[in-house]
Amino acid sequence: MYQRVRVRAPTLLITGSYVVLYVVIVDTDEIILKVENLHAYYASKKGLIKAVQDVSFEVKAGECLGILGESGCGKSSLALSLVGLFNRLARFSAGSSNIPGLLKEFDSESEERAGARGRVIFRGRDIFSMDSDELVKLRGAEISMIPQGLTHALNPQYSVGMQTGEPLEIHDESVRLIEMKKKVLDYLNLVRLADSGTRYVLDPSSFSGGEAQRILIAMALISGPYLVIADEPTSALDVTIQRQILNVLQMIREEFGVSIILISHDAGVIAELADRVAVMYAGKIMEIGDAVQMFHHPGHPYTKGLMQSFPTIMMMRMRAGGKRPMLRGIRGEPPDPHNIPSGCPFHPRCDYAIDICLQEIPHYREVEPDHWIRCHRFEDIKDDE
Ligand SMILES: Nc1ncnc2c1ncn2[C@@H]1O[C@H](COP(=O)(O)OP(=O)(O)OP(=O)(O)O)[C@@H](O)[C@H]1O
Ligand code: SF4
Ligand SMILES: [Mg+2]
Repeated sequence: MYQRVRVRAPTLLITGSYVVLYVVIVDTDEIILKVENLHAYYASKKGLIKAVQDVSFEVKAGECLGILGESGCGKSSLALSLVGLFNRLARFSAGSSNIPGLLKEFDSESEERAGARGRVIFRGRDIFSMDSDELVKLRGAEISMIPQGLTHALNPQYSVGMQTGEPLEIHDESVRLIEMKKKVLDYLNLVRLADSGTRYVLDPSSFSGGEAQRILIAMALISGPYLVIADEPTSALDVTIQRQILNVLQMIREEFGVSIILISHDAGVIAELADRVAVMYAGKIMEIGDAVQMFHHPGHPYTKGLMQSFPTIMMMRMRAGGKRPMLRGIRGEPPDPHNIPSGCPFHPRCDYAIDICLQEIPHYREVEPDHWIRCHRFEDIKDDE
């Protein structure tokens, strides 16, 4: 039953010689992804690496949630968990480490065991209760992931046309070859791949980094997913190409009503697209809220520090009537994953830390509607710039 429905203006999409009329109806109150108390741990010789800890959030239909945090904070591990791939990858890492006994960490009865646990509910179904066949059907058909690291994502031995159509072969047996080619070309045109009609048969080495990224986006979209998870889709690309990729992601959200989880260590990239932002540190969400609030009035000391480290964000604030930009980095380094500090994991770097911060882990609490934070001192410091 729809409560609040946004009907977008009919859109004309010119694809080769076809003109297609799309009307996308999105129920903007529908929650398509609900994550509850998600934990994801790797096994390692020095003990468990707690890559994701007690993470909870929701994604609504048609919205873009940005996930922001420094390298190693757990963003990719979170993404892998959401599509049911974490256990496979973590087991593979443990199995290929040549360290006897590491795989036992997965079969332990304890809460503190390797692997992913918690609840990930996608359109009413629990991802962690699905078997591997159901997960394969889900990935690509309903949730698509654009993985981090371009170099390994495309297979060098197959043409880009064949690879882009691969999700269709798996998920839609009724699609015949000729229809598949037409559909692949439509999507390669959609992501503005120049001369796609003739380059369809070439292998990935003939394409630049920005083009390869757009091919991955076409692959992610072709089977009409509800949710696209883009893990660092613009890193290692120059600024002009970054802009093109962000424009393509923006376009697919607006034209098709696809929800996006956009993962980046760059607040400037997140600011371009996100409606809401989750800030991660040492495997935990430290703050999540509306993007405008997060960029202009962050509440958590880590979010405050992060925003002050990015010139683009400080310029954005100044243009919106804020003070002259004063760039300040966050002192210190992210924690060693084997030695996460006691209490609030951010305390060794936090200018506001007091005794309780060293001793007690702050609860994840809703401090205002749709604004969640993990900090003992939010109320005392929220107005500090
Ligand atoms: N296969 C693995 N085996 C063991 N530990 C891992 C593995 N992959 C990641 N880690 C560890 O898990 C933690 C989270 O890593 P993750 O890749 O999820 O972070 P990230 O936020 O995506 O970082 P980046 O911004 O560099 O991509 C890190 O401490 C990392 O070293
Ligand atoms: S809980 Fe304490 S140490 Fe952690 S962010 Fe808040 S003030 Fe800083
Ligand atoms: Mg990553």
